[in-house]
Amino acid sequence: MTIDDISRRGILKGGSALAVAMPAIASAQAKVPNGSAGGKMTSVTMTINGEDRHLDLDPRTTLLDALREHLHQTGTKKGCDHGQCGACTVIVEGRRINSCLTLAVMHDGDSVTTIEGLGSPDKLHPMQKAFIVHDGYQCGYCTPGQICSAVAMLDEIEAGIPSHVTDDLEKVRFSDDELRERMSGNICRCAAYPNIIAAIRDVAGKDAA
Ligand code: FES
Ligand code: FES
Repeated sequence: MTIDDISRRGILKGGSALAVAMPAIASAQAKVPNGSAGGKMTSVTMTINGEDRHLDLDPRTTLLDALREHLHQTGTKKGCDHGQCGACTVIVEGRRINSCLTLAVMHDGDSVTTIEGLGSPDKLHPMQKAFIVHDGYQCGYCTPGQICSAVAMLDEIEAGIPSHVTDDLEKVRFSDDELRERMSGNICRCAAYPNIIAAIRDVAGKDAA
């Protein structure tokens, strides 16, 4: 028997096992109602960009998937789906969060703002305008998350919430170090960082520091 024989036999054996298993998997999937793995659907009502939206969801649905797959608000992007890139950042009850890391059912009754709700092509939010003026993007995939994050981040500075680089906890000072630290959860694979910082600075009405 040669190595080639063994490989061929293994592949044929694996293939026939798979052929046997596939109908069983298909039959199990057919028994799953509405993709809920046999569980109960949960009713969720959220205010999305100022509009009340009602959904019946598998309780395991993330807020990101609820927005994109169920409400077709595809401005919010799925990058890593693991809380590592920030592409999915939205503003919930005034605070920025990674929508891939939270379940939609946890936000029943909450108000959610996505990039679609910040502004429109006719009436851009100042942060959206600044990203255009300062060329704060290249491919644009991270941009909705960057913009939502930046808007909520400026409110955090305004509210005096300290970050890891804040020297004086009594008085949060606006600086590029603060901006970079606070925006560090939003990754840009095109590395548009200097322009993103310039755009945020512009909106905040501050010079480089
Ligand atoms: Fe949510 Fe990357 S998709 S952090
Ligand atoms: Fe391409 Fe940020 S603009 S990932």
